[in-house]
Amino acid sequence: MYNSEQVSNTYLEQGTSKRQCCSARNSKQKERNVVASPFDPRVNDNPSTYFVQDRKNKKELTRVMIQDQMITAAMGGVLPEQADPMIFRHVLDVGCGTGGWSIQAALTYPAMSLVGIDISQRMIEYARAQAKAHQVNDRVKFHVMDALHTLDFSAACFDLVNLRFGCSFVRTWDWPKLLTELLRLTRPGGVVRVTESHAVAPSNSSALTQLFEMFQCALYRSGHLFEQKSTGIIDHLVRLLDQYGCEGVQEKTYTLDYREGKIGERSYYENIMRLFQTMRPFIQKWNCASKDYEAVYRQALKEMQQPNFHATWNLLTAWGSKP
Ligand SMILES: C[S@@+](CC[C@H](N)C(=O)[O-])C[C@H]1O[C@@H](n2cnc3c(N)ncnc32)[C@H](O)[C@@H]1O
Repeated sequence: MYNSEQVSNTYLEQGTSKRQCCSARNSKQKERNVVASPFDPRVNDNPSTYFVQDRKNKKELTRVMIQDQMITAAMGGVLPEQADPMIFRHVLDVGCGTGGWSIQAALTYPAMSLVGIDISQRMIEYARAQAKAHQVNDRVKFHVMDALHTLDFSAACFDLVNLRFGCSFVRTWDWPKLLTELLRLTRPGGVVRVTESHAVAPSNSSALTQLFEMFQCALYRSGHLFEQKSTGIIDHLVRLLDQYGCEGVQEKTYTLDYREGKIGERSYYENIMRLFQTMRPFIQKWNCASKDYEAVYRQALKEMQQPNFHATWNLLTAWGSKP
């Protein structure tokens, strides 16, 4: 269990503090004590509520890395809508993936210390290596944890708790428990911040639209969307934060624009190319894939390479304070 003092010690005395030994021993001990069960995320890779079942999937890691960089850049930074990001000294990033958001935050704000958690050991190992490569591993730590369970931190540890694209693993019925847990970890006056996107990214490629509609269908049938429509998650963020304990909830929308020759266009293509490969089993599992999925996929790749291709990606960030 990490408390707020311990969280800050982590950054100051990397690898040698009492907390470090204690926490490392605790989590290792826990891992040793786990009886192998097909349902334990620390032991087994399945089942998972994440839309990519294989947590070691290299394509997904690369996709998440590309997506992280393009989203952070296009949104204008890690915390573009926050009036004074300097007030956040201790930050938790939930479902941190490759750790790009946390590392960028540490590089942007030298007084900030961060912890990223993710269910995937592979993502966490990659994130740790990246933190080291960027020389912020004294202030940025990563741990394998399941965000749908009670998290291994004491109450009021963090000034800011961030969750981006949680809809990829959080079902509609998971939000109350998850938000209650994130608020437990936030200090009074601290902020919980959630970013999600439309399920369908509008574009002038009809094949790509078809793929996104299949994806939206699978997200809805698997319980990740409240309604089967593109805004089936973002329409609910403010309400959820409000309903489960945040005050002063605010929102900001972002419209990212991708067209031939513009910065980010290549990343958009690379992301989509991987997304609809790795997502195919998920889309099929929920009976949302058309019989000609492969042909539609190939057609979408073709249309995305046309000089007049144009797509937008709509995101919404909602945030509120802990009373
Ligand atoms: C779509 S990625 C987003 C990563 C990151 N937040 C970003 O915006 O770049 C979702 C991440 O959530 C992780 N994840 C899935 N289920 C999880 C769970 N139950 N607890 C914690 N992380 C989870 C996945 O391994 C993946 O890295």
